[in-house]
Amino acid sequence: MTLLEIADLKVAFPGPSGPVNAVNGVSLGVDPRQTLAILGESGSGKSVTAQAVMGILDVPPATVTGSVRLHGRELLTLGRKQRDRISGEEIGMVFQDAMAALNPVFTVGHQIAEVLRVRRGMSRSDARRRAIELVDRVRIPAAKDRIREYPHQFSGGMRQRIMIALAISLEPDLLIADEPTTALDVTVQAQVMELLAEIQRDSGMGLLLITHDLGVVAEVADDVAVMYAGRIVERGTVEQIFAGPAHPYTEGLLASMPRVDRRDEQLYAIPGAPPNPARLPTGCPFHLRCPRATDECLASRPPLRVLPANRASACHHHEEVLGATQR
Ligand SMILES: Nc1ncnc2c1ncn2[C@@H]1O[C@H](COP(=O)(O)OP(=O)(O)OP(=O)(O)O)[C@@H](O)[C@H]1O
Ligand code: SF4
Ligand SMILES: [Mg+2]
Repeated sequence: MTLLEIADLKVAFPGPSGPVNAVNGVSLGVDPRQTLAILGESGSGKSVTAQAVMGILDVPPATVTGSVRLHGRELLTLGRKQRDRISGEEIGMVFQDAMAALNPVFTVGHQIAEVLRVRRGMSRSDARRRAIELVDRVRIPAAKDRIREYPHQFSGGMRQRIMIALAISLEPDLLIADEPTTALDVTVQAQVMELLAEIQRDSGMGLLLITHDLGVVAEVADDVAVMYAGRIVERGTVEQIFAGPAHPYTEGLLASMPRVDRRDEQLYAIPGAPPNPARLPTGCPFHLRCPRATDECLASRPPLRVLPANRASACHHHEEVLGATQR
């Protein structure tokens, strides 16, 4: 059975000029041991999708429809208490900003131990021992001493590690990591990503990894879902997408990725900006920025179609794109 199954997920917020449609019908699945990367520009709905899965959106004012199943069990219709228990124990979450996620007035050891005491009913000494193991697991030297320190006493990379320790403390089946390394410098980014991938391999968790970094995708993901204006516009394995995208937006993202083998060429930038989710254009939401747009693209919105080899693209001209990009 699929670990996480999202079907036709829609999230809207009330806005001054009508609803802000942040997520417009997202369907995806994550299996145990699988890493699915959600890739897309700022504002494409990646974090809101994750928040809807975690059940941490305020409903109302937000409205959430569709289906989110974990181990086959629908989460969207559960009561608050059950929902909190499942998102607390079966889903772990790592955010971009550990400083905001950790409590500044408690030591990191206390914060991890508290979760184990409340959720697992562990004794004080067992919880403390386990907290040391977890901090050691995320490769923080001298874990036994460092659990007595406060979040601000750690470097950015070390704080992300603490947050990972906290996220895996209840051994969740699914980990959602929302831009977990974006705020770090490049070498630290790579180390933290490597640690996440290693923990996932050892534990067999499914990983939903949100990023706008194609390098990270290439490094750790199995599959990719590319989001644009609240929808998935392309889905496939990492190999398929890098070998030849089937959507002009993915084509643009790849062309704008710095590559060592193209050092002297000028970097491509996708023209224009993503559409305002309160005023999505008619037809294909990418048509204003798309070099391949035709009259058909202005008139009708392409559905996400499944193509051979089980990849998918939401483009009227996916055959042309594939023909061009796979050459
Ligand atoms: N609580 C909220 N109330 C109103 N609008 C929101 C809220 N949260 C997000 N939005 C809007 O929903 C859209 C999608 O936001 P989201 O945070 O999911 O983007 P993202 O893909 O995660 O971008 P980034 O890469 O910048 O993190 C944006 O237009 C955002 O302004
Ligand atoms: S449907 Fe048309 S506008 Fe949209 S991505 Fe495809 S070619 Fe571009
Ligand atoms: Mg985000």
